[in-house]
Amino acid sequence: MPPATSSSVLHRVSDGGDTTTTTSQTAAPNDARTFWCAAFSRVRAETERRAAPLSAEDQGVQSMSDASPTKWHRAHTTWFLEQFLLVPHLAGYRVFDERFSYLFNSYYVAAGPRYGRPQRGLITRPDSECVTAFRAHVDAGVERLLRTAQETQLAEVLRILEIGLNHEQQHQELILTDILHAFAQNPLAPSYRDDWRTPRPQSSSDGFAELPTGIHTIGFEGNGYCFDNEGPAHQTLLQPVRIARSLITNARWLEFMAEGGYTTPSLWLSDGWTTVEKEGWNAPGYWRDLDGVWHSLTLGGLKPVDPDDAVTHVSYYEADAFARWAGKHLPTEAEWEVAARQNLLDDAFGIVWQWTRSAYLPYPGYRAAEGALGEYNGKFMVNQMVLRGGSHATPAGHTRISYRNFFYPPARWQFSGLRLVDYCE
Ligand SMILES: [Fe+2]
Repeated sequence: MPPATSSSVLHRVSDGGDTTTTTSQTAAPNDARTFWCAAFSRVRAETERRAAPLSAEDQGVQSMSDASPTKWHRAHTTWFLEQFLLVPHLAGYRVFDERFSYLFNSYYVAAGPRYGRPQRGLITRPDSECVTAFRAHVDAGVERLLRTAQETQLAEVLRILEIGLNHEQQHQELILTDILHAFAQNPLAPSYRDDWRTPRPQSSSDGFAELPTGIHTIGFEGNGYCFDNEGPAHQTLLQPVRIARSLITNARWLEFMAEGGYTTPSLWLSDGWTTVEKEGWNAPGYWRDLDGVWHSLTLGGLKPVDPDDAVTHVSYYEADAFARWAGKHLPTEAEWEVAARQNLLDDAFGIVWQWTRSAYLPYPGYRAAEGALGEYNGKFMVNQMVLRGGSHATPAGHTRISYRNFFYPPARWQFSGLRLVDYCE
């Protein structure tokens, strides 16, 4: 787990539109309480702001087992703070409802039994109002803890709080991706917010940048927050390779489709082709052919596919097939990170997560922490692929160059796209 800190870079909170920026600070211990109280309020408010456009009916729906209802995200992030911060550290804290641990524990085996993930949409009680009351109860507890914690307690309290806030930001992104998946099942193609605008890539470069071959260091180093899976920093050897400055656009994806990308088995990994046949994929997720014009369901509703936008909602299998069709490759996560550190990537953050061809594995020397919070990342290090960067649904400031996102190869309900690399002859 990351070290306790009162010198962390805090988070900008955004939904891809307006942005509220907090600043990094090096806080003296007495200032730390005020600083973290403000940070806590900002992150908690952002969750509610993201949930606000959704009705109670919207907030209860679960469209597949990978996705969760908004109401569950609001409650689970609250349970996380209650379970790991308030119960162990706030003397006299009264648990809001003893039954909620069973309902809102996600996967922490050490924290006790839990309700089945695929059935989260069946939980109509507690209702949204009750979850709001749960959030207010825990908010008051955290604020009281920040006011009253002993100086000797404070470092550990802030360490857990910082994990809790970063955890909540991850669920803020899921609130948006999960509701978009739910809306995509609705023939009326609802919009989350009519004024939502998907950001357009800034890069106009078709160019590739050469990476310096040889030994490089990747992984998190220095001050500030990181998740445990970003370390230890370690050396890695790069072959001669050039990396695309820009993201793959819808225009390029339409070329791939026009040249039989989804109907040519030789372009696909075996598991990928099996998925194409099983799922009937012939375009990225949420694309619909309306009278010969491709449209995509976005958070702003159903829109004609814009050729200049970055392609999104593609799985690892599709990204890999596209790279093969293009005569190139997906980057490894080390190639991506070295390039990002050297400022060679346009639109690395804020548009789409980018698939790498690296399996999600522990870095050399990685050990998960003891206890329930040690289950956060380490136990998922098999069968998934790493994505780097960040999307327009990621709370701004949440992600960083060493950040490792990970999903299963068929997943495409996240804002996932790609860029390519080319190996030098
Ligand atoms: Fe969680």
